[in-house]
Amino acid sequence: MNRCTKINELKRFIHASRAEDKRVGFVPTMGALHPGHASLIEKAAQACEEVVVSIFVNPTQFNNREDFETYPLTIDKDLEVAQQAGATVVFAPHVEELYGGDLAVAPVDYGQLTLAYEGQKRLGHFDGVVAVVRKLFSAVEADAAFFGKKDLQQLAVIRRLAKEEFMGLEIVDCPLIRESDGLAMSSRNVRLVGESRQTALILYCWLNRIKKEVCNQGDIPTTLRAIESEAAEMEGLELEYIDVVNGSSFRPLHDGPVDSEAFAIVAAEVGGVRLIDNCALACS
Ligand code: PAF
Repeated sequence: MNRCTKINELKRFIHASRAEDKRVGFVPTMGALHPGHASLIEKAAQACEEVVVSIFVNPTQFNNREDFETYPLTIDKDLEVAQQAGATVVFAPHVEELYGGDLAVAPVDYGQLTLAYEGQKRLGHFDGVVAVVRKLFSAVEADAAFFGKKDLQQLAVIRRLAKEEFMGLEIVDCPLIRESDGLAMSSRNVRLVGESRQTALILYCWLNRIKKEVCNQGDIPTTLRAIESEAAEMEGLELEYIDVVNGSSFRPLHDGPVDSEAFAIVAAEVGGVRLIDNCALACS
């Protein structure tokens, strides 16, 4: 596996692959790789001969300084995970390589997609995500980029970016991976200590409750309000939002048909750690 920190080194690897007609896959990450990331790299390796994994904790997408400063850094382990999963190149640039000296990013307006839910709760977050992903897509020039459905709204934002600016790039979505007890895998989970780890499981329970309600043709708004009341009584948990949306537009879906695009989404802070989760609602 090759490693580089500079865009021109990365381009040399990519151009050599292109000369050999290799398909280039790209998995952008912020490091602290867990089995969810490994599954993205494996999927990329099944579809592409060259698999670039970027490791870069992007400062411009954190709306909370403490979250940025405590973001786990595990580069040695990350390199092992990436290699084992099938990465052929790890691109781990320093901040200056991507941003020069200027961390100002342009605001992004994709309407509801960037305004609601994560966009509303984490002001400026999607501006930073779009800024860095745009830089990374331009650097890697991949055929396909692989993203997890755990960050469902980010996935929709990136699809829009690719549609508008990277026409030839295929965006491949990959399943959300859970711990054996149901907690959605996230790099931030290592910060869930003591009772918080157990409390965090309620997010998955709520999503399942909404799904059950939907499959029994129950009333979605009533279920959402009941969960909100329950959350308000809980210690160590601050619910930010829970809703049912169309997973592409992020418009709320309260009485419309529940089709393959319908998702329950939730965000909450548990023991000071911000968690998000989602689940598809279509009943089989
Ligand atoms: O999903 C992430 O890890 C990040 O938001 C991404 C896409 C790597 C951009 O920094």
